[in-house]
Amino acid sequence: MVIQINKLTKKYGDLTAVDNLDLHIRKKEVFALLGPNGAGKTTTIRMLTMLTIPTGGKALINAQDVTSNKVKKEIGVVPQHMNLDLELTAWENLELHGRLHNMPRDKLKARINELLTFVEINPRAFELASNFSGGMKRRLMIARALMHYPSILFLDEPTAGLDPQTRRKIWDLIRRLNAAGLTVLMTTHYIEEAQILCHRVGIMDKGRLIALGTPQELMEKVGEVVVEFFGGTDTGYKFFARRQQALEYVSHLKGDFLVREVNLEDVFVEITGRKVGD
Ligand SMILES: Nc1ncnc2c1ncn2[C@@H]1O[C@H](COP(=O)(O)OP(=O)(O)OP(=O)(O)O)[C@@H](O)[C@H]1O
Ligand SMILES: [Mg+2]
Repeated sequence: MVIQINKLTKKYGDLTAVDNLDLHIRKKEVFALLGPNGAGKTTTIRMLTMLTIPTGGKALINAQDVTSNKVKKEIGVVPQHMNLDLELTAWENLELHGRLHNMPRDKLKARINELLTFVEINPRAFELASNFSGGMKRRLMIARALMHYPSILFLDEPTAGLDPQTRRKIWDLIRRLNAAGLTVLMTTHYIEEAQILCHRVGIMDKGRLIALGTPQELMEKVGEVVVEFFGGTDTGYKFFARRQQALEYVSHLKGDFLVREVNLEDVFVEITGRKVGD
């Protein structure tokens, strides 16, 4: 296990943002934490990356307590909110990060070039980050997080607010990094992204982990097929273990309906009882 989280808790006054979280992430896994706004995803990542101190419990990264200095060089962090230095160029943002990690000067230059090429912003290396689009800023943040060769990457909503093409570019980056051996812990509100990209997902709500498994395992729990019905006397959806049962059900339905395979978003809605982002 590369990340071991045991009874991790964060309280802000009366509010328990993360409540006795137990979770183990495997080496070379791409893992997504899902959950509605305020579920505690960012707080969890912040505790794992030493940006906030837990109120209780324990978290180990590569068998070292996250508060240990040894952990710092193992992890790269892309936070939820843009925190590039906009008055610096892309190059300078990476250079600054490398210096903070005490990277030797000769290695620094090669690494910056390599990463700016990897995230496809090399042609604009010497432009101010303030000129960049949202997608370029996010890619630059990923490059920055990778500067010091971490083995674990934390990505808090890496594709939030990006257009569909740019989101796919980020997925490709994540896939390539994982193929090269990185463990990835990410959060997202795009459930289909987690379904496509992640080996396992954990669904959080109100600080607690309420579901855990591969997308396939979670989908099998709610059923194989869903019937969505609109108009008529009822509006809503209903899950069925088998397609045949769904077809029997719709034969008595009045109004419009749709029979389709269950996806991870259905699981999310069923488990949390509301849509992501509500
Ligand atoms: N510094 C803080 N002080 C007080 N409360 C906080 C602080 N940071 C987070 N919280 C609260 O903790 C809870 C969890 O917040 P967190 O940001 O971890 O949720 P999240 O799952 O990342 O949500 P989102 O999907 O909106 O990013 C929320 O109720 C939030 O208001
Ligand atoms: Mg968050």
